[in-house]
Amino acid sequence: MVTQIRTTAFFDGTTDKVFKLTHDTPKPLQSGEVLVRTDWISIDPGMRGWITNKRSYMPPVQPGEVMRCFGIAEVLESKSDKFKAGQFVTGFMGVQTQGVVSDALLRPVDLSLASPQDYLSGLGMTGFTGYFGMSDIGQPKAEETVVVSAASGAVGSIAAQVAKLAGARVIGIAGGPQKCQYLLDTLKLDGVIDYKNDDIKSALKQHCPKGIDVYFDNVGGDILEQVIARMRYQGRIVVCGSISQYSDFANAKGPNNFIAVITQSLKIQGFTMKDYMHRIPEAFNYLLKAKHSGEMIFREHILQGIESFEEGLAMIYSGKNHGKLLIKL
Ligand SMILES: NC(=O)c1ccc[n+]([C@@H]2O[C@H](COP(=O)([O-])OP(=O)(O)OC[C@H]3O[C@@H](n4cnc5c(N)ncnc54)[C@H](OP(=O)(O)O)[C@@H]3O)[C@@H](O)[C@H]2O)c1
Repeated sequence: MVTQIRTTAFFDGTTDKVFKLTHDTPKPLQSGEVLVRTDWISIDPGMRGWITNKRSYMPPVQPGEVMRCFGIAEVLESKSDKFKAGQFVTGFMGVQTQGVVSDALLRPVDLSLASPQDYLSGLGMTGFTGYFGMSDIGQPKAEETVVVSAASGAVGSIAAQVAKLAGARVIGIAGGPQKCQYLLDTLKLDGVIDYKNDDIKSALKQHCPKGIDVYFDNVGGDILEQVIARMRYQGRIVVCGSISQYSDFANAKGPNNFIAVITQSLKIQGFTMKDYMHRIPEAFNYLLKAKHSGEMIFREHILQGIESFEEGLAMIYSGKNHGKLLIKL
């Protein structure tokens, strides 16, 4: 018997109670499919977007379907030319203990190079997002001032470290003294702002006296507004996420000082990892090398068992996770 988390409705901002635990047997394998046993599940802020019935970068998970997720799994049976039984794979596989998955959604993983946790954090989609967003769009230069929000999280911590390795001065924004201490002591950032306790406007002025050259935005909302007000002439803003607005997509608020984009000749670019799928090997090699040389640190927050999925998803929107949030099955 297989256990899954299915959605019961679209998320409409009023309640997170849109999941149920179900039990099933896997459907028979068709050509081009594999049966996998899921070992690790990634919990991502984008999941609320995946269950919202609005135009997005992927079609929404329909009510009643198994919840979408990234994971790491072992192939148990194969009717695919690409994978054989015993191989480990990563990709979209659903929040389920076992499942039948199309081989088009999977990539092989080599567990002699890195752990399954690494393959879902720094060497997975979140790591690649931080790498491409910062290096390709932000393009930080030595001595420039870079600000990263949700900087102690999965994407933000990679983006911040990529900017540090490019020689920039990096200021991280995070919620609470523990996360800020981590950014200073472990990731060696040049300054931190605790947005839950500091006055953001004066803290930005103190840490960025000449203004901000690059802002890597993971949160949107008030923090984005305050940062825009301190951007330097011709600064760059990388719009990666807007987590402060994910509880109500229909009424998400934009900054009230958007006119500064004109007056300060700012460049703003959004992106999703979908834009960079063809360049994954580049990010993987950079991040693996930086991790092995000790220049890059990944951090994971691990929950146990498929039953922890709903609680885990709520944690990510209240900042209770410390690093890439994963479930070990
Ligand atoms: N564009 C893409 O392709 C792509 C891919 C992956 C992720 N993303 C985006 O990147 C962002 C970070 O994702 P992640 O996977 O790395 O998650 P994460 O940073 O590991 O966890 C989310 C963090 O966001 C912060 N947060 C939550 N609510 C907040 C709020 N109202 N205001 C400010 N901060 C808040 C919390 O940290 P604090 O304790 O510091 O508040 C929380 O720990 C998200 O916006 C996500 O949607 C984009």
